[in-house]
Amino acid sequence: MLVLGIETSCDETGVALYDSERGLLAHALYSQASLHSQYGGVVPELASRDHIRRVLPLIRQVLAESGLGLNGLDAIAYTRGPGLVGALLVGASIATALGYALNKPALGIHHLEGHLLSPLLSEPALKFPFVALLVSGGHTQLMQVSHVGEYVLLGETVDDAAGEAFDKTAKLLGLGYPGGAALAKLAQQGDSRRFKLPRPMLHSGDLDFSFSGLKTAVLTLIQRESLNEQSRADLAAAIEAAIVEVLIAKSLAALEQSGLRQLVVAGGVGANRKLRDELTQHAAREGIRVFYPELEFCTDNGAMIAFAGAMRLQQAGIKVSGLKDFSVKPRWDLELLEAVS
Ligand code: KG4
Ligand code: ZN
Repeated sequence: MLVLGIETSCDETGVALYDSERGLLAHALYSQASLHSQYGGVVPELASRDHIRRVLPLIRQVLAESGLGLNGLDAIAYTRGPGLVGALLVGASIATALGYALNKPALGIHHLEGHLLSPLLSEPALKFPFVALLVSGGHTQLMQVSHVGEYVLLGETVDDAAGEAFDKTAKLLGLGYPGGAALAKLAQQGDSRRFKLPRPMLHSGDLDFSFSGLKTAVLTLIQRESLNEQSRADLAAAIEAAIVEVLIAKSLAALEQSGLRQLVVAGGVGANRKLRDELTQHAAREGIRVFYPELEFCTDNGAMIAFAGAMRLQQAGIKVSGLKDFSVKPRWDLELLEAVS
């Protein structure tokens, strides 16, 4: 089954072709990061306009790379939500139009389902059930995953997401937007023990997170003293250590609570090297297996959407139901997804 995947939920246009027998055939990504960086965050209207410019050339590119034509497609999968409404509408309308023209189904995928299934793209050893730590710019959640579409929320952030904490503190350090990767790079030169930062909700006894206090603590510190280059690196290392420590402690608690031994880490923050290294150490000690998507598929991409679409269609069977109304879901609770049997 050949599925075209289209991701346009935020500031990356991602397109991919996934074949259930042959795997990922091609993928292409255009990041709008430089477009938005001058504004210090994503500007929704600019994002949707840029998706419109990029999506068709990227579709042509993946088809050309894999030597296939539109007629070879069995289905089109697109991100239906959550995300920016105008940005989502670009992917939804192009996918629905293609589906109508080709008489093939266009399937709306939950963005976070794409993230949490993405390790399966390259890790056939991963089998359901597992615990997933979803850490992106907009979400920080621990999910129990029993099957495609069967998700139980174990815990989530009560305020900022982990990626948001990286981005906001990176901005305070003058590192631009999005700053997670830049902060992690600066942290490599720093000593994480020099500054003491809070570990919010580390001992709250539940699986929820809170990161907004970290941003306030960093702001207070920066206002109190002017930081030289080494101090900026030390502070970056302290921020990274605080976020990583809480993410690991809560993930291990979720595994213990659910009695599961497999952890999936997905979403942009899953690209963080310190998080990966420290989780690997804990996992080895405690007999847990940790699975990550390939680094390039940690952040938003079309491959995870094509893959989630193929999994759903394979299990539920392909139905074409004519031109449907389409709608996007800027806010969409992952637990409300329908399971596929
Ligand atoms: O999943 P994603 O691409 O987009 C959303 O759906 O939000 O995640 C983006 C987030 C940003 O907050 C970015 O700063 C963060 O992932 N990020 C990182 C790293 N690479 C990306 N955070 C920490 N360390 C990294 N290496
Ligand atoms: Zn994402």
